[in-house]
Amino acid sequence: MTALLESMLSMKKRSDMPRKILVTSALPYANGDIHLGHLVGYIQADIWVRFQRMRGNTVHYVCADDTHGTPIMLRAEKEGLTPEALIARAHGEHLRDFTDFGVVFDNYHTTHSEETRHYAEDIYARLKAAGLIEARAIEQFYDPVKEMFLPDRFIRGECPRCGAADQYGDNCEACGAAYAPTELKNPRSAVSGATPVPRESEHYFFRLSDERTAAFLRGWTRGESRPGVRRLPFEAANKMREWLGEEGENKLSDWDISRDAPYFGFGIPDAPGKYFYVWLDAPVGYLASFRHLADRRGGIAVEDYIDAAKAAAAGTEMVHFIGKDILYFHALFWPAMLEFAGYRTPSQLCVNGFLTVDGVKMSKSRGTFITARSWLDRKLDPEALRYYFAGKSNGSMEDVDLNLDDMIARVNADLVGKFVNIASRCAGFIGKRFDGRLGGLDASATEAFAAAWTAGDIAAAFEARDYSRALREIMRLADLANQYINEHKPWELARQADREAELHTVCSTALTLFRDLARYLKPVLPALAAQVESFLAIAPLDWRGEWQPLPAGHRIEAYRHLAARIERAQIDALLEANRASLAPAANAAEVAAPTISIDDFAKVDLRVARIIDASHVEGAEKLLRLALDIGEAKPRQVFAGIKSAYAPEALVGRLTVMVANLAPRKMKFGLSEGMALAASSPDGKNGGIYLLSPDSGATPGMRVK
Ligand code: 2FM
Ligand code: ZN
Repeated sequence: MTALLESMLSMKKRSDMPRKILVTSALPYANGDIHLGHLVGYIQADIWVRFQRMRGNTVHYVCADDTHGTPIMLRAEKEGLTPEALIARAHGEHLRDFTDFGVVFDNYHTTHSEETRHYAEDIYARLKAAGLIEARAIEQFYDPVKEMFLPDRFIRGECPRCGAADQYGDNCEACGAAYAPTELKNPRSAVSGATPVPRESEHYFFRLSDERTAAFLRGWTRGESRPGVRRLPFEAANKMREWLGEEGENKLSDWDISRDAPYFGFGIPDAPGKYFYVWLDAPVGYLASFRHLADRRGGIAVEDYIDAAKAAAAGTEMVHFIGKDILYFHALFWPAMLEFAGYRTPSQLCVNGFLTVDGVKMSKSRGTFITARSWLDRKLDPEALRYYFAGKSNGSMEDVDLNLDDMIARVNADLVGKFVNIASRCAGFIGKRFDGRLGGLDASATEAFAAAWTAGDIAAAFEARDYSRALREIMRLADLANQYINEHKPWELARQADREAELHTVCSTALTLFRDLARYLKPVLPALAAQVESFLAIAPLDWRGEWQPLPAGHRIEAYRHLAARIERAQIDALLEANRASLAPAANAAEVAAPTISIDDFAKVDLRVARIIDASHVEGAEKLLRLALDIGEAKPRQVFAGIKSAYAPEALVGRLTVMVANLAPRKMKFGLSEGMALAASSPDGKNGGIYLLSPDSGATPGMRVK
């Protein structure tokens, strides 16, 4: 046998065999709530996973929380928590949100895990051995008060191009300019308010500019995940060509993969004080979650999915679902890291666009920044959102618009008006007139339905993640089923004693079509499909084997209401709830105090103070005890109501402002000898409490006027 023939035969065999797919969804950061913008991509992935399983393929679907990095470290500090406590809380909340939206992972892990550490270290060591890691000194902004290097997002200042105030260190929201933080005018640290200073430090780089990586990425980009299926969506492949440049041109820059202490993450072996950058270990979390799953469950040959040689031999796939904002990481760094460390590279990237609500970016003040939890709290059906998002997903990177009125209309018309309507019009007759037992079927109807189904090729649409087309075809079939009922009018047959048999056939046929529609909708609406399965008393629906009728004599359960209409008032209440809980504090709402004279103001002795000690106060819910140095012989003891916003250890060493001539006040816990100044919103709810800090250079005891 020739090698070609042999390989064609083995391909043939392989294409008949169930696929083995490791599917991942992007890991959400542990410092934020899951919102509807997140859910677009997770729902798309979950539908695909469910579809593959119904077809008989083996899918391992994993995810995890993305737990490392400076924002998480600082957020924990601000909340007075350890990072470990913060990420544990987020893990529970995220998992609950996903589960309640029917997004069911085989494993939901964390990147703060031994499995992640293991793979991150292993990949790093292999890249180093391949000559692809290089140490280099770079200059970065450093916060001299907080004593840490500042990520770009934590530096604010005036835009070097348009002069807009209070812009981030990497780009201007006013004019869109991109720049280096060192170009900002009057930069300051968003952490302490201090003026950052340039400081040099050694960093580790992954040498993406190496000839080998560019050559590899060019080939990888052009590849297919399976015959005829592009590895990258068309728009992403174009982006890649732009990033990679023309053949022979090398446009890739090396990637900085290390960060200096203090940092919440994993230390780099043999590099004291250096940590893996969060984006290095985030995608490694995919492998880690999979490993953790295999260890928990047993019976999964992990290496067949992640080792380059074994995966090729086993024909497994690795498919990542991501948002378009993180394409760069998944299409450049990640495959290159894997390739040169001897791991298998991704088979396919499925990339979703952003979510807009009523045509515009989600907005906290409009209430359209809708959290997953708030949707559930308002008792809105999570499957209504799954259905609507599916209807808006066509497998491209286009943005998805959640048009609220359109969603209400679509869900009510399709799910309630078309789908559920079939069962609600026929089930009662089967229950009342035929003791819940089905009769024979109208073959011409089931055949017409089957022909329409074949023509629609719904499975191919699901496979290509063109759920919008799949649902259009399914609703066309639902129209056929409703048309059949309208033509045969079971309610009229029921009034004619001699047409009992016809009534039985019509209702049994309609319920069979209803079952088939439930099968096609099941990847999108798993909970509704499960209700249909128990109402029809059938085994879990799948997409394998020959079509089977529901046998005559089969007994179904009594019909119970399957889906409710959405009312606009529910959506308005949802927006209001999100507006109230997430909108920035309405600062203008607090009316200015009556005017005072300059002499009145001069009576207040404000001083720059250094917090030299801070501790919890036993029995006090809101207070911290501060020792404030204002240049006097003895520090002042001040009780400040800031416990909800600050961990004591985070305060020690920083500067603030205090009222130094406030009459001492005897409190239950001791004498308070002044007042530390902090900003907060009128109701104390939105936005927390912010202790004031002077600009850097101020020293304890300086008068504030
Ligand atoms: O952009 C984000 O939300 C990241 N946390 C996604 C990480 S995906 C993967 F690489 F882990
Ligand atoms: Zn600007």
